[in-house]
Amino acid sequence: MTDQEKQGQDQLWGDGSGAGMHPTLALISDSLRQDLPLAEADLIASAAYARALSRCGVLSPQDGEVLARELESMLEDMREGDWVPKDAEDVHTAIEAEVTRRLPELGGRLHTGRSRNDQVGTAFRMTVRSKLDDIVDAMLELMEVIVEKAVEELDTLMPAYTHLQRAQPIRLAHWLMGYFWPIERDVERLLQARSRISVLPLGSGAVSGHPFALDREWLRRELKFDAISENSLDAVGDRDFAIEFVFACSLTCLHLSRLAEELVVWSSTEFGYVKWRNDLATGSSLMPNKKNPDLAELIRGRASQPVGDLIALLMLIKGLPSSYQRDLQEDKQPVWRSAFWTRSNLNAMAEAFRGIRFNGVKMEAALTDDTLATELADILVDRGHPFRDAYRVVSKIAAKAREIDGSLRAAADAMSADDLAPLNHQDFEGLTAEGAIERRKVTGGTARATIEAQIEDAREVLRFYREERE
Ligand code: ARG
Repeated sequence: MTDQEKQGQDQLWGDGSGAGMHPTLALISDSLRQDLPLAEADLIASAAYARALSRCGVLSPQDGEVLARELESMLEDMREGDWVPKDAEDVHTAIEAEVTRRLPELGGRLHTGRSRNDQVGTAFRMTVRSKLDDIVDAMLELMEVIVEKAVEELDTLMPAYTHLQRAQPIRLAHWLMGYFWPIERDVERLLQARSRISVLPLGSGAVSGHPFALDREWLRRELKFDAISENSLDAVGDRDFAIEFVFACSLTCLHLSRLAEELVVWSSTEFGYVKWRNDLATGSSLMPNKKNPDLAELIRGRASQPVGDLIALLMLIKGLPSSYQRDLQEDKQPVWRSAFWTRSNLNAMAEAFRGIRFNGVKMEAALTDDTLATELADILVDRGHPFRDAYRVVSKIAAKAREIDGSLRAAADAMSADDLAPLNHQDFEGLTAEGAIERRKVTGGTARATIEAQIEDAREVLRFYREERE
């Protein structure tokens, strides 16, 4: 048999003459390797489909059960490493060929009413759904680590930065919790996307639905889908769910990248805010003095990957007619890669938080009194001055401070009472970072009790998601 004829035998379509694909087409057609993550779901869905075929009379109840059990034992064999899908153009073909080898007569009945179009949609959705669940678990774990750190660092004070310039005093716990909420939105986003992923296409056939009285509702329950697709054309051509998933992954990776960037900057000698546990940092092959925050840099760097894959997926569907087109075979790789990096970046960030130490002494030393300029203006507001006027008075002091390269206090000391008015020298005495921090008691602010309430809300959110997922 020539290679071409052999290929002709391994494919599901054709007239049986063995006239197969040209090697060039075979090469470009092959998706087995990128399909492998689908194998489990395909076997589970195929077993359910075999039972559904017997429920609508296409197979006898006994035949349906025998076929389903064989598919389930293939799943076992695969998990044990005794069988892998091979020698076929895709995973669906390999599975059907193997079950037909094991049960020659019954295997040939499995594909009744089914197409690889609704089959791949089903297995793909099931696999994305399970990867999504793993990612949500990794998110919840990271959120928990952030909360633990925030509790530890409740009394560590530091400057908040805007434009990477010292701005106003905050608690380190507040900075930490500032990264909790984006991840919380990411969890919510993924779970919303999950309900659109969990729509069953099986029973749509190639494009026009199922010719027998297939109980799709039974299949839905059996395969734990939330809903059944309403339109067979849409069902076999819809990849919105994959795009949404990769978008959600991209945004999470970008959130982690921003955090990673901040950790990299804070690891510099200039900042000195962060120290890495030795086994989480790397050295230089040349410079013995170096301890590098590679973990954070890699998280930052790898954020580019899902974003690139998101664009690839968006472009993949551009210009496709409705229903299934073969272009859609290219949808798997971007999803697998994005899921893998998102999960490993989340795990890595959780480990980073377990392994870094914050240098509270350096942080507090960075709380120079220029970060209290707004407080000074607010003292005047307390006395009834319009904020804009108060701002101008403090601006003069801040300009003087810059001129003498000193603190606000030093600047005030160098100024006459007239220049300072309506402020006076005593106003500087009560001015502290802690005071500024405690003044902000409004929800979302920095006061200790407010942050404790924020942490309690965060714990409540975590409890909710934990219970939801049980
Ligand atoms: N390997 C294919 C894919 O992933 C399966 C569907 C093939 N369908 C077809 N009509 N050729 O898209």
